[in-house]
Amino acid sequence: MIAKTTRRLALAGLLALGLAAPAAAQGFPAKPLTLIVPFAAGGPSDVIARLLADHMGRTLGQQVVVENIAGAGGTAGAKRLAASDADGHTLLIHHLALAAAPSLYNNLGYDTQTAFAPVGLVNTGPMVVAGKLALPPVDAKAFFPFAKLQADKLTIAHAGIGSNAHLCAVLLSQALGAKFTQVAYRGTGPAMNDLVAGQVDVLCDQSTTAVPQVQGDKVRAYAVTSSERLGVLPNTPTAREAGTDLEMTIWHGLYAPKATPAAALDKLNGALKAALKDPVVLERFKSVGTSAFPESEWSREAHAKRFGSEISKWATSLKAAGVTQQNVN
Ligand code: MLT
Repeated sequence: MIAKTTRRLALAGLLALGLAAPAAAQGFPAKPLTLIVPFAAGGPSDVIARLLADHMGRTLGQQVVVENIAGAGGTAGAKRLAASDADGHTLLIHHLALAAAPSLYNNLGYDTQTAFAPVGLVNTGPMVVAGKLALPPVDAKAFFPFAKLQADKLTIAHAGIGSNAHLCAVLLSQALGAKFTQVAYRGTGPAMNDLVAGQVDVLCDQSTTAVPQVQGDKVRAYAVTSSERLGVLPNTPTAREAGTDLEMTIWHGLYAPKATPAAALDKLNGALKAALKDPVVLERFKSVGTSAFPESEWSREAHAKRFGSEISKWATSLKAAGVTQQNVN
């Protein structure tokens, strides 16, 4: 009895000092983790996911296996996460499309407001409006008037309704007052391959995968959607400089199923933070024009706050723009 009480007191003391993990986190993770990417391999979400999976796996002492569950603008992967065991071993990387989806899809098979536990914010960056090399305009000045006049003859690729590339295509159409013919892929990885091959005309993709193709002279960058030019594409103007009001910033976050124990979420958040502190990861982000969130936004609470406000923001702005479940152009 005395020994038991002493042990309890000792544990309480250690917990007070922050030296003992709560029981639920002690055995976690007990097996390899799965990180769901809701788009095809080779796209920007996949690139960021693989970088994180490798780093977080080393921190957590368990392999993090990336699984691409693509389809329906990223909602198929989100649905898979919502139906997964809430033990912290299955995660999802997703971006603002997770917040926009309830405004664009009828039967998601999950409730966006209640299905997910935010683990932490990852990276934020702009989109790049890119064209195939055979397209006549060689710069933004020539591209925007050309696209305005020729939009109905031009194809624009995206990664499904509600994906970043789709929302950027919608914003670009609105900025020009002209509609393109949309072509949906399971991710911008395959969409970018077809842009390089000249099978589609235009793709507005995240800098993460657009920058290497532009630098390799495989596609032409017409504009970036940030408020300032990107250091890695110094000769590409912002869409505003090019005379449009197109501005778009994307962000990724990590999610677990809602009922995941807090101790596991904290451990995952800690492993994510370790990745975001690593200069190698930060340099890799920088080389493709994206950045980690500032440290003040690394908590689970900051992610939950942003996620909530983005759900409302996209509901309002898509409605105002007349983009509904029936009219997604
Ligand atoms: C992808 O990884 O394919 C992209 O994140 C899709 C998108 O939202 O544009």
